Amino acid sequence: MGHIHAEDIAASDVDSNNVDWSRRAVSQCEHLHPYIPGKPVEQLLREKGLSEAIKLASNENPYGPSPSAITAIRNAAGQVHRYPDGDSGELKAALATRHGVRTAQILPGNGSNEVLELIIRTFAGAGDDVIYAARGFIVYALATRAAGANGIAVPEQDGLRHDLNGMLAAVGERTKIICIANPNNPTGSLLGHATLQAFLDALPRQIIVIVDEAYHEYVHHETGESIGRLVHPGLIICRTFSKAYGLAGLRIGYAVGDAGLLSLCNRFREPFNVNLIAQQAALAALNDSDWVQEKVAESLVQRQRLEDSLEQAGLLGAKSHGNFVLLKHPRARKIGQKLENIGIIPRPLAPYGMPDWLRISVGLPDENTMFIKMLDEIIAA
Ligand SMILES: Cc1ncc(COP(=O)(O)O)c(C=O)c1O
Repeated sequence: MGHIHAEDIAASDVDSNNVDWSRRAVSQCEHLHPYIPGKPVEQLLREKGLSEAIKLASNENPYGPSPSAITAIRNAAGQVHRYPDGDSGELKAALATRHGVRTAQILPGNGSNEVLELIIRTFAGAGDDVIYAARGFIVYALATRAAGANGIAVPEQDGLRHDLNGMLAAVGERTKIICIANPNNPTGSLLGHATLQAFLDALPRQIIVIVDEAYHEYVHHETGESIGRLVHPGLIICRTFSKAYGLAGLRIGYAVGDAGLLSLCNRFREPFNVNLIAQQAALAALNDSDWVQEKVAESLVQRQRLEDSLEQAGLLGAKSHGNFVLLKHPRARKIGQKLENIGIIPRPLAPYGMPDWLRISVGLPDENTMFIKMLDEIIAA
């Protein structure tokens, strides 16, 4: 057997033994592609020969984790020779108390991403439909295809807002799951409670509706709590510690829903799916709500600042309800490249069918100042 070099793996599906592995993979593999994350800072530095760069591409909390989460991470480091609590028991109890539900109604995961995949894998397979917005979070489509189910992508109204009537019209006998991000990533749009509840009321009871609230903390003041207020037997709310809680690198998120429904997902769940450090950090972050509120408030001030300057430059694509802003310009791709050339990483939205758009995560005040300054220069050139 020949040696496998890194470049062979990157370059081709066919290795030096001339086995076409793509023909050996399960059939749905043909319709999948790896998730494309925001470009890592290290990669840009290497590519451009720069010494520093600002990443505004993955909607992280630029302020870092809360001080108590950092302490918890340090304390947990000495315990990593042990497996974590496979049931995330302490964290589930804290989340259940926070949301006024039973612990069996909480499903923690390795990022909310894992939770989304677990739900889709548990309930949708060949012959089943999963409905989502055409410009919804791309993981819904990827997880659906990976499960061998059929994805129905419903175009947004005006290209930005969920078309709930269109989604209702797409519901049929084969419909198992509907995925809605609220606020939506990448379009930044928000559905109100009354609108969502009317949608849920119009659905058959047995259809699972995932309301993915990854950016909930950034709209909490506008919408209030959704858990316990939105009602539907198959309703699952997903939340994450990756955004406002500043723990993206640890990968932890969770679902809140019907206990019987979520217990089935446990059958597909990997043992110890949430690592020991993530469990401890999330517990600490959860209890540091003043810190979260403070940083969210600062981010909202910064978001307004970014949106104001985009508006003045005639570049504001749409108002966003997440921790990101939306730039629209016919030369968005070029603008994105020029930003990268000078060390600022935006997220091009071409993979979402939005080639004229860039998504810019709200950064630290200095990072946003730099972005505004550089954008002005690029546009003026
Ligand atoms: C709408 C939405 N849902 C889920 C996620 C996944 O978050 P995580 O897996 O980090 O919890 C993201 C990440 O960007 C997102 O934008």
